[in-house]
Amino acid sequence: MLTTTALALSTLALRVSAEVKMANHRRPGLADTPPLGWNSWNKFGCDISQDTILDAAKVIADSGLQAVGYEYVIIDDCWHADERDKNTSAPLAHPERFSKGIKYIADEVHKLGLKFGIYSSAGTHTCAGRFASLGYEEIDAKTYAEWDVDYLKYDNCYNEGQSGTPEASFKRYNKMSKALKKTGRPIVYALCNWGEDGPWNWAPTISETWRISGDVWDSFDTVDDYCPCETMIDCKMSGFHCSVSKIIEFSASLGQKAGPGHWNDMDMLEVGNGGQTYDEYATHFSMWALAKSPLILGHDLTAMTNETYEIVTNKAIIAVNQDKLGKPAQRRWKRKIEGGGTLQMWSGQLDNGDTVVALVNLSPRNLSVAVDIADMFDAPERDAKTKTYEFFDLWERADENDLQSWGRSVGVHQNSFSAPVQLRSHQTKVFRAHPINLSSNPDLVPQQVVFKTNSDN
Ligand SMILES: *[C@@H]1O[C@H](CO)[C@@H](O)[C@H](O)[C@H]1NC(C)=O
Ligand SMILES: *[C@@H]1O[C@H](CO)[C@@H](O)[C@H](O)[C@H]1NC(C)=O
Ligand SMILES: *[C@@H]1O[C@H](CO)[C@@H](O)[C@H](O)[C@H]1NC(C)=O
Ligand SMILES: *[C@@H]1O[C@H](CO)[C@@H](O)[C@H](O)[C@H]1NC(C)=O
Repeated sequence: MLTTTALALSTLALRVSAEVKMANHRRPGLADTPPLGWNSWNKFGCDISQDTILDAAKVIADSGLQAVGYEYVIIDDCWHADERDKNTSAPLAHPERFSKGIKYIADEVHKLGLKFGIYSSAGTHTCAGRFASLGYEEIDAKTYAEWDVDYLKYDNCYNEGQSGTPEASFKRYNKMSKALKKTGRPIVYALCNWGEDGPWNWAPTISETWRISGDVWDSFDTVDDYCPCETMIDCKMSGFHCSVSKIIEFSASLGQKAGPGHWNDMDMLEVGNGGQTYDEYATHFSMWALAKSPLILGHDLTAMTNETYEIVTNKAIIAVNQDKLGKPAQRRWKRKIEGGGTLQMWSGQLDNGDTVVALVNLSPRNLSVAVDIADMFDAPERDAKTKTYEFFDLWERADENDLQSWGRSVGVHQNSFSAPVQLRSHQTKVFRAHPINLSSNPDLVPQQVVFKTNSDN
């Protein structure tokens, strides 16, 4: 008995100290909600210059992307000169492609009211073979701060084997965390070790975001052995070429590790890069949003189609991602579909008491789905069966004449949807369920409330 109590107490003490540690790291105002922005890599790779970055920044400011929340303009790999400054070892930008220097770009980005991000690797070289920051953490962090950098994506290439255990990875990544803090400048630390060594268990104490998997690939569900694991828990080779469906699967169990100031990063978006259909890209965007991943655009903003613009400026979906409660949605069920793939239901709590619900069709078939409202809850409240909700379909316009208005009411429901939801192959429907007090809304009763159980469907 005594032993049990002592154990319980020491467990409690451990938990408390872990929470204190997190609280110490949390820097209010920095990634309180998942970062939104654009990064050069998915579309441009190493073919970048100051114009690539500034052109993208101008589109963000002028096109309405900034107005819906996109903020960070991030240069990925290949901004580098051939080598560091020979005298000081400070990092240097490529003398032709970035002839005006990085500070100039940061200043121009800031003039637009946006924030600026840069890239390095916790290794001897970046993934594209440029100089990187292992052993140069202090001078690099100091230089980034002098350049007025607001965000650092910190990769995992050429890490000299300093990985394979959580301790080894933590130690290597903590050096940059400390160096960034020492500068005094609030720089979002976006750790990118591809989910190796379970970063969700230690990165929250040193960074704002951490990648959970190998790199995303512009494919909805191609099976590719470059991304071999079925789950990231104990995955020994995170690889790359990870399809959207695979990353959704990886993220399902990790939501419990994220919250304000510390987020699972499902990698940059592929929306608009051409490899997927409208429904697939809308699924990609929806599920990144519900899992509270950073939403970092990765397409050519200067050549954006209306369809892409429509997806990435869906304010109702962005509002779910940026909800201040910061609670990732959870998968409630996953059903195998004959002919391959799965149908899944995810839901999550929002700050105002609403619930977000996603029906995700990862199968090649069009489906008709009955929704039992009690399934939306983790521990179905006693009254989940009797409560009434107004549902809004977040991929339908509330007002057809207002292209910026998303979230059409699809009626008031109790127990279950009154009609099954129709889902096309690879489509995701996202609903926001708003609790309705019937006693104070008597008008709703006769026409719209449908009292029936799931088995009636
Ligand atoms: C390095 O220092 C030397 C001597 O102070 C100076 O002549 C040279 O221009 C410096 N080189 C660079 C790249 O700053
Ligand atoms: C794209 O949207 C704009 C503004 O809403 C419209 O004027 C234009 O015709 C659209 N282009 C296409 C190809 O639909
Ligand atoms: C699914 O429905 C769409 C129309 O909504 C149709 O074009 C398509 O052929 C259907 N697919 C299958 C596999 O039945
Ligand atoms: C519902 O509305 C009635 C009448 O306005 C009110 O008395 C009751 O407290 C409300 N119930 C809840 C749960 O808010």
